[in-house]
Amino acid sequence: MTSHRKDTGCFAEPQHDGAAVVIAIDGPAASGKSTVGAAVADRLGYLYFDTGAMYRAATWLAQARGVAIDDETAVTALAQAAEIDVLPAGEAADGRQYTVLVNGQDVTWAIREPAVANNVSQVSAYAGVRVAMVAQQRRLASRGRMVMVGRDIGTVVLPDAPLKIYLDASPEERARRRWQEEQARGGQRDYEAVLAEVRRRDAIDSTRAVAPLRPAADAVIVDSTALTIGQVVTRIVALAQGV
Ligand code: DC
Repeated sequence: MTSHRKDTGCFAEPQHDGAAVVIAIDGPAASGKSTVGAAVADRLGYLYFDTGAMYRAATWLAQARGVAIDDETAVTALAQAAEIDVLPAGEAADGRQYTVLVNGQDVTWAIREPAVANNVSQVSAYAGVRVAMVAQQRRLASRGRMVMVGRDIGTVVLPDAPLKIYLDASPEERARRRWQEEQARGGQRDYEAVLAEVRRRDAIDSTRAVAPLRPAADAVIVDSTALTIGQVVTRIVALAQGV
């Protein structure tokens, strides 16, 4: 575990004065951000907000409307006009972490389909799409008490967040975790195919022109390669509490 900043509990103050407290968690695909982010939010009594769901929702909408993913102008116009909501799961008892609505339609599970997953990196690289999503994310964050998870939360969306975590793990370990999840759900892909996809998404996310994936200068880098989810969560909660 390395740190870009001094690990001195500078997070404690905003918690005491009740100011808008948002924990930013960024990192590559399959680094455990969603599991960790949701658990940290639960432990602190914060709202969990997964910004990847917004880019997935914009991708789903383009496909649902028959807009070609390569048509940046049309995809951007659609994303800018879309009303995308990510809400607490509420009473839904189907294992969802949250509910995603696009123009009022529940797309929580639809945005997890391969058709969306295979195109979301391209959509999320469009500058106009990002402008629209970032504006919505900042509005939500201003309510405070939130764990916001994504790729650019600490660098672009909330550069003043009092605690920024960059959650990393080796590509091989991330692929292994994803492959195991897939196997448990009856998936057919072999490990090598999953590893290739992890590397492909890393390359797209970290080399794109707008808001590439990278740690903020003052992010705490948590390498989870050799840690359990529980250890990572405990570590982040301790940082949040200024221990
Ligand atoms: O975390 P995820 O797999 O649901 O993210 C889906 C895509 O959205 C992924 O290609 C990265 C992108 N993304 C982004 O560019 N910025 C964010 N803040 C969150 C996700």
